[in-house]
Amino acid sequence: MSKLTTLHEFIVAKQKDFPFASGELSRLLNDIALAAKIVSNDVRKAGLVDHILGAQGGQNVQGEEQQKLDVVADEAFIRAFENGGEVCGIASEENDDFLAFQSDTAKKGNYVVLFDPLDGSSNIDVNVSIGTIFSIYRRISPNGTLATLDDMLQSGEQQVAAGYVLYGSSTILVYTTGNGVNGFTLDPAIGEFFLSHPEMRMPENGRIYSVNEGNLNDFEPTLRAYISYCQSNENQTGKPYSGRYIGSLVADFHRNLIKGGIYIYPAVPSAPQGRLRLLYECNPLAFIAEQAGGLATDGKNRILEIKPSQLHQRVGFYIGSKQMVEKAMGL
Ligand code: AHG
Ligand code: MN
Ligand code: MN
Repeated sequence: MSKLTTLHEFIVAKQKDFPFASGELSRLLNDIALAAKIVSNDVRKAGLVDHILGAQGGQNVQGEEQQKLDVVADEAFIRAFENGGEVCGIASEENDDFLAFQSDTAKKGNYVVLFDPLDGSSNIDVNVSIGTIFSIYRRISPNGTLATLDDMLQSGEQQVAAGYVLYGSSTILVYTTGNGVNGFTLDPAIGEFFLSHPEMRMPENGRIYSVNEGNLNDFEPTLRAYISYCQSNENQTGKPYSGRYIGSLVADFHRNLIKGGIYIYPAVPSAPQGRLRLLYECNPLAFIAEQAGGLATDGKNRILEIKPSQLHQRVGFYIGSKQMVEKAMGL
């Protein structure tokens, strides 16, 4: 039997690849793994524990109903970052404003993390895959001070690491530090992530398209033409592609990363800027897609080059296999 590599061993072995090889980013990634295990455990109990399943009763800044597990996950990750010592501030989908951590230790942290604690949360109550998405930056503000909004509003190109945790049929953590993409599956019996998907590559082309087709009539003509192409015999496979739409971006992306495919959520009248959030949904997945050989755009521009102006900014999103994204953009 070949030797198993734990996430911790992998992070330590790769530390020399990091832009600032002081061990801080390694510790931060381990903090994320710890929070991921806690949330995974909560997600697995969702149907059992009455007070975990169901609506929290509040609304987040975007007027969406918060599920209890959204809040549980948000708090678990915030706690891990606040106590870990490497992070000076965070922004998350579930908090209107960013949080600047107040302790002296946290003020000396060199990183900020932007995250979606639970993506696809409308799927919690129906036992369908959900996930956590995260994006890590070096702070711009001076070490020793409070984190600022400018620390949060960096363009995706500045990310030093990004990843996601998918609570699916198993729990998998996938991340990049800019040297390729690797995936680690959680063995729940012993609470350890093991390297299961080394050096992940997104196939250049695929035969899966993922869109909310309920919005089809609102798509602009180029995109409608692309969807018709996917459904026709005129594509490179000579038969219609398969439509697959889970409604959890992170799960749709993970499948397309492995099998080849495209996910599209364009701007539509009901979401005129797009549905998905640039800072904690699109940027981290765009970084991973590019590192795996894929592409991510807003339909025209590369996602990672967009200069953000707001924490909860939305954007149209085309992500997936390189040739499919190019074709969908009409190139
Ligand atoms: P979140 O649960 O974090 O708010 O994100 C939901 C997102 C994304 O995961 C999913 O692909 C998309 O919203 C689904 O939107 P529609 O229901 O409009 O298809
Ligand atoms: Mn989300
Ligand atoms: Mn969410």
